[in-house]
Amino acid sequence: MTASNVYQFQPGGFADHRTPLIMNCWYVAATSSEVSRNIISRRLLGTDVALYRTLGGEAIAVRNRCPHRSFPLAKGRLVGDTLICGYHGMQFDPSGRCSHMPSMPITPYNASVRSFPVVELGPLVWIWMGEANLADVSQIPNTHWLDDPAWTSVSGAFHMKSDYVSMHENLLDQTHFPFLHPGAIGTPEFARSKLTVRQEGEVIIIDRELKNSSPPGVYAMPTGLTGKPVHRYSEARFASPALHTAFAKIVDPQPTSGAQAEFRFNITHAFTPESHGSIHYWWFNSRNFKLDDQDSDVFLHTASAKAYLEDVDALEWIWEVVQNDNQPQFDLNFAPDKPGLLMRRVIHERAAAEAGVSL
Ligand code: FES
Ligand SMILES: [Fe+2]
Repeated sequence: MTASNVYQFQPGGFADHRTPLIMNCWYVAATSSEVSRNIISRRLLGTDVALYRTLGGEAIAVRNRCPHRSFPLAKGRLVGDTLICGYHGMQFDPSGRCSHMPSMPITPYNASVRSFPVVELGPLVWIWMGEANLADVSQIPNTHWLDDPAWTSVSGAFHMKSDYVSMHENLLDQTHFPFLHPGAIGTPEFARSKLTVRQEGEVIIIDRELKNSSPPGVYAMPTGLTGKPVHRYSEARFASPALHTAFAKIVDPQPTSGAQAEFRFNITHAFTPESHGSIHYWWFNSRNFKLDDQDSDVFLHTASAKAYLEDVDALEWIWEVVQNDNQPQFDLNFAPDKPGLLMRRVIHERAAAEAGVSL
């Protein structure tokens, strides 16, 4: 039985790990470098997808399941722009339409494999798995810094056993920083600093400001401001069910003469549910200074990967408990949990709308 068969939408409810996945949304299917002339398969929102590039370089996504006998098309081969099934040789053009079936004297042109809208923006290949007529490219959240010569990025990826609602909640919850990531992105002063939470449509935004405090480790080394009192402005944003973005602006109020006074880090977290209990997760840590500094690259990659692995570990441990502990529990909520609850309300309402349930 799938989660959508057992899930009950409640008025005023909050999404959790059982909530039906949001289908009508752009998700990241892969990074650009993963999509090539070698066909890859990836399960996205419970559907197996085959990804490849045409000779012209266009990224193509089709269902990874031949409509004849369910052979995984990623196990087939490409000849020019034709995808050939590895079982009985059925051929498909990039739109998914059958262009030849060797065992048939006449090509069954009305046969096809489902193809999915795909948009490639910078290093990300976005896919629309929902109703095709609702796919609107303008709904893809802005991540221009990933494809802008004024910025540079380090990046990584995880495949994790958890649910994307919990991961979004983790990123909207900054009170865990000093405990799960001590010394890296969390300082006790930051945890106590004033935050404002706002909702703009379905976007949830946390703003935070901390003045005259030395920056935490991850921002101190690249800026060269270790131990110096700085102003720190940060934002965390639930941009869509597929994307969380954040920034940190570090301002040196008393730069030595000629030195740079303002430094910006943009953080990108893309989540695509593989299923209800597993996630494809891509992260990028971008900066608009010291673009060619390899020491900063190595430092930021190491520090980011360590911090995000701490989140991945925590969420996988929680998932293990939630899945296997038989005693019922209703999690406590505290005031700082508000941003996560707003996000969970948004996802709950979107899932209900997709299910045709009016709350
Ligand atoms: S399973 Fe693909 S052609 Fe038969
Ligand atoms: Fe974290």
